[in-house]
Amino acid sequence: MILVAGPASTYLAEKVAKSTQLRLIKLEHKFFPDGESYIRFPEKVEGQDLFVIQGTHPPQDRHLVQAYFIAENAIDLGANSVSLIAPYLAYARQDKRFFEGEVISIKSVLRMLKSAGYKKIYTVNIHSPWVAEFSPIPLINIQAEKAMGDYLKKLSIEDPIVASVGKKGAEMASAVAKELNTEYIVVKSTRDKITGQVTVEVEQARGLKNVIIVDDIISTGGTIVEVIKALKKLGAEKVYVACIHALMVDGASEKIMAAGAKEIIASDTIPSEYSKYSVADLLAEEILREKS
Ligand code: R5P
Repeated sequence: MILVAGPASTYLAEKVAKSTQLRLIKLEHKFFPDGESYIRFPEKVEGQDLFVIQGTHPPQDRHLVQAYFIAENAIDLGANSVSLIAPYLAYARQDKRFFEGEVISIKSVLRMLKSAGYKKIYTVNIHSPWVAEFSPIPLINIQAEKAMGDYLKKLSIEDPIVASVGKKGAEMASAVAKELNTEYIVVKSTRDKITGQVTVEVEQARGLKNVIIVDDIISTGGTIVEVIKALKKLGAEKVYVACIHALMVDGASEKIMAAGAKEIIASDTIPSEYSKYSVADLLAEEILREKS
């Protein structure tokens, strides 16, 4: 079993290699002058079972194409099997046809990865876990709430309350609150499908002081900003923002800090200055489970 570092996730692949003690092949990678990706396997992979670590965070389409090239060519070069570790799986938020004629992007992505030759996909806190039901290849969803909770514990926040975001956020908030041995409150959020405007409603707001908002993804920051504003209005003093995947597009972090957040905390599924806890050990555990 060999690990392969895709161009999107070399930083994480190195940590996973350290944790698993497995050999790591770093793919050679550069861009042609017109922006196309060049990739080369610097070593033979014939007969090997490969775990390719390649996130599909922005630029999503480029990273997906690279993931495609890697598996197809690994098999062409004689690899025995190829599995994908995509710590962030792109397009999982387009999991249904919200308006007539829309593409169900995640369905196409999963089919594309299967046709590339991947036998299994591992990802972390996928936004829509139910897509595993229609995935043409096994899709393993690794939960990182404990890793998030362990980091938050180290902050020694006095009397914290966890706040969930969105329809399915309560599950994550409950898991993190359990780690912190505290309670959680539910913040309902709805996004206007046309304008993108987010409205939030705090379900219960007793005794707000130090609040930790948890969410799976921060993209534009629009949701979190509205949640911070609502919590502050209800008396929250310090508001921490914790997520798994920090996409941080359109100056999201600046908007979140301007809304009054004390700190932004994210995992390293997507590398950024907010990557304060790692999913490497979780990924390593899954790989070693497959090995045994
Ligand atoms: C919604 O269901 C998700 O949990 C996130 O809250 C949402 O995707 C974040 O997007 P944005 O940062 O653009 O508001």
